[in-house]
Amino acid sequence: GKGGYEHYMLKEINTQPNALTNTIEGRVQDGEVTLEDFPEGTFEDVDDVQFVACGTSYHAALYGQQLLNQTGIRAQAFRASEYVDSATGSITENTLVIAVTQSGETADTLGALRGAKERGARTVTVTNVMGSTAAREADDALFIRAGPEIGVAATKTFSSQAVMLSLLSLRLAEDIEAVSAPDDQAELLRELQKLPEYVQTVLDSTAAKRIASRYTGSEAFFFIGRGLNNAVAKEGALKFKEITYEHAEGFASGELKHGPLALVTPDTPVFALFNGDKDRKTLQNAEEAQARGAPIVSVAHADHPAEKISDDFLEIPNTHSMWSGLLANVQLQLVSYYAAKNLGRPIDKPRNLAKSVTVE
Ligand code: M6R
Repeated sequence: GKGGYEHYMLKEINTQPNALTNTIEGRVQDGEVTLEDFPEGTFEDVDDVQFVACGTSYHAALYGQQLLNQTGIRAQAFRASEYVDSATGSITENTLVIAVTQSGETADTLGALRGAKERGARTVTVTNVMGSTAAREADDALFIRAGPEIGVAATKTFSSQAVMLSLLSLRLAEDIEAVSAPDDQAELLRELQKLPEYVQTVLDSTAAKRIASRYTGSEAFFFIGRGLNNAVAKEGALKFKEITYEHAEGFASGELKHGPLALVTPDTPVFALFNGDKDRKTLQNAEEAQARGAPIVSVAHADHPAEKISDDFLEIPNTHSMWSGLLANVQLQLVSYYAAKNLGRPIDKPRNLAKSVTVE
């Protein structure tokens, strides 16, 4: 049942601390990542990583791509629906293909997984459903253990996927000789253990609800971020359009001035995401939008320089840049939820959409 919540989506947003605890459980020990079925050295031959996924899972894959590239491992996230026709030619015998799929039943993702196998790639799926088709067909499966997700809009599974992919990227860095683990691995893993608490802090704040009410009825909604927060900006926009039916787009911050800025007006709030990584540039991009009259809603930790220039502020706990985007994402989930509620939308079952898309 909905456990006292008005919608499954709200329940699922609120149970993220628990979902994340389950995802992490037993996988981090003494500053190292241990993954069941993957003994030390299992990834030593991996040369490059290709992610295949759709929708929200694709955004989690973008997060994973960014992390791997930062570590020095070649990685690319593909839209599963595009993969077989345009990308399988780049597979080598040392390519690891990771299919990210909550349900494990998405036809486009299964098609990409099969295409990768045919080409001889090693495959892993990151999924929420044991016994799903992806779990059966991939060489190996990593379960995110987020618990059943009923709302069509993916929420807790995105958070758990992103964490699972982060752990996997740290394991890859340990196994592959040519790259080294991040210098601050012990610190970032300590912060990961605190992530469920930090998410709870976000859930306890009321700013998202107020901001949703303030901007409901705007002409369009834009989300900007760079690096890991580019993935979060895109996810924020997908969630927003999916359940509110309003026009929303997510952009890499620096891209705004290369075209989308033409859409920016006083009636298009811009949500700017900050995570301590090249924030000065994102701040400048937000100010460019503000100069065209757009209200700026910043998502950042307290006392961040963005607070001064912002029209509204969504605070997140101050943590490692690897995780802060996931906290920003929870704020954006809440903004979408309350905006959809203000508009009277059928939040758990948006029009035209299915929880699991089993046609290509
Ligand atoms: O089950 P999957 O993760 O493979 O589903 C992929 C997408 O269909 C899914 O994430 C979709 O984008 C969600 N409804 C977004 O909230």
